Amino acid sequence: MQNPGAASLALFTREIWANPRAMGAACPSAPALASCMASRVPLDRDGLVVELGGGTGAVTAALLKHGVPPWKLVVIERSPTLVNHLRRRFPQLRVVQGDAAQLAQLLSHDRSRGVGGIVSSLPLRSLPPAVTRAIGHQFETLLDAGGLLVQYTYDLRGTQSGLLPHFRRRSSKIIWSNLPPARVEVFERE
Ligand SMILES: C[S@@+](CC[C@H](N)C(=O)[O-])C[C@H]1O[C@@H](n2cnc3c(N)ncnc32)[C@H](O)[C@@H]1O
Repeated sequence: MQNPGAASLALFTREIWANPRAMGAACPSAPALASCMASRVPLDRDGLVVELGGGTGAVTAALLKHGVPPWKLVVIERSPTLVNHLRRRFPQLRVVQGDAAQLAQLLSHDRSRGVGGIVSSLPLRSLPPAVTRAIGHQFETLLDAGGLLVQYTYDLRGTQSGLLPHFRRRSSKIIWSNLPPARVEVFERE
């Protein structure tokens, strides 16, 4: 049987060929990147934890290992192939196929529970600017004041300030062992 790491890499590579701008990365997130993202999610908050761009599930697995209860976690992924993979890998989770630019609609069944935090692997720099703006607007709409957004970027200088105008950066850390190195940032909704 193929090992799960190799299977994820093969799947990720096929998706890059199909849609390079939407994948926005050369490899699945390294364990150090995934666990750093997950560790930034507070476990004492009410509301859902929404993971955007679940991909092959590296960050999803780290969120579960960190202690996010499966009933609180909703994973959003645009690619139907990756959604099938995520549903097979995490049968206990709600995995929703769709575009994060329509996040409020995708979460319409879950909205009564509120959104406590968003963990995003979306390639905001390589998506078309209109899509990135629409996604930023969804972040603002869904998170209440004090709500946290965890996002990583390959721009080691950090996310440009204009991209998330209603958020302030709370923390930032570079994970050098990821390929390529990435900066994990935590933003708080003002
Ligand atoms: C950098 S990859 C994710 C890496 C993931 N953490 C992993 O280790 O496999 C970005 C993911 O975001 C998804 N994606 C891109 N644009 C999206 C959108 N507008 N809505 C939802 N998912 C999107 C891609 O299909 C891809 O799976």
